[in-house]
Amino acid sequence: MHLARFPRQHFAHLPTPLEPMPNLTKLLGGPTLYIKRDDCTGLATGGNKTRKLEFLIGDAVANGADTLVTTGAVQSNHVRQTAAAACRFGLACEALLDRRVPDRDARYETTGNVLFGRMFGATLDYLPAGTDMDAACAERVEAIRSRGGKPYYIPGGGSNTIGALGYVNAALELLQQANDQSLRIDYVVHGTGSAGTQSGLVAGLEGANSGIDVLGMCVRQKDAKLQEAAVHRLASATAEKLGVKGGIDAGRVMANADYVGDGYGLPTEGTIEAIDLLARHEGILLDPVYSAKGMAGLIDQVRKGHFSKTDNIVFLHTGGALALFAYEERWTR
Ligand SMILES: Cc1ncc(COP(=O)(O)O)c(C=O)c1O
Repeated sequence: MHLARFPRQHFAHLPTPLEPMPNLTKLLGGPTLYIKRDDCTGLATGGNKTRKLEFLIGDAVANGADTLVTTGAVQSNHVRQTAAAACRFGLACEALLDRRVPDRDARYETTGNVLFGRMFGATLDYLPAGTDMDAACAERVEAIRSRGGKPYYIPGGGSNTIGALGYVNAALELLQQANDQSLRIDYVVHGTGSAGTQSGLVAGLEGANSGIDVLGMCVRQKDAKLQEAAVHRLASATAEKLGVKGGIDAGRVMANADYVGDGYGLPTEGTIEAIDLLARHEGILLDPVYSAKGMAGLIDQVRKGHFSKTDNIVFLHTGGALALFAYEERWTR
């Protein structure tokens, strides 16, 4: 797979470490658990969006853009990393924030990712839940164009075929690490939302014939079939862009929606348990919206015997711990 054919700017700290989690493995009684530290990608405290942004910013720069337009939830990690990347490349950043999480206190709109987005000088506009964010972004793109600017639109989560190339690259990186360590990986597990991460991983791992199963734990979508369809669509389009022969078999796309709870941004008891277990047994911070929902799913599936004791499972840590500041009442009460 020849990723150098696509525009890219290199700013992520790569490769991210692939580490064992001996304490969690022992606590749960096997399978053997590893963690791929994409929370350490380096840009503005890191996270999965940095890999996507390498290709998205590459494309924006190649197209002569001067302003990035994007969208996300109020505590969006994607918006924070996009705002930071914009600074690095001398671009403006305008982000439309969707007030999609109900019943949060005032600090939710000022701390964590929002604080950093402001430090990076991004224009942040809050829109009510239920707004058609795609339409609002299209309007913003038009407004920038009509005042003579050169907007570049990055969809929520950076999830299009360009952003997904970042996770094709992650798949190749992971395979290289596994081969170097003689580590046979059976599963990769992670939180899946706007689908770009899983789509890139699936396109890369299937395109390389790895035989590794990728299991996405839904963080927003309550219907696993709909998430699988979204991932399959984007993975297929990404594979086509790469010239992968034979496309992506829909049966190779797996999502589980059992750990979403009441909805996006609303942690379950399992989410909180996952944060506490990883903090206290591995010294690793998860976030309450994405990575801990993914980990809660992994822990529960291990407990239910879904995996064999001899499996090697890599949990992809997609970052997001800054959002903990917007949920701190769970630990300070
Ligand atoms: C920390 C974190 N993990 C996981 C995800 C989900 O990734 P994707 O949207 O590519 O499915 C996101 C996306 O916003 C995220 O911020």
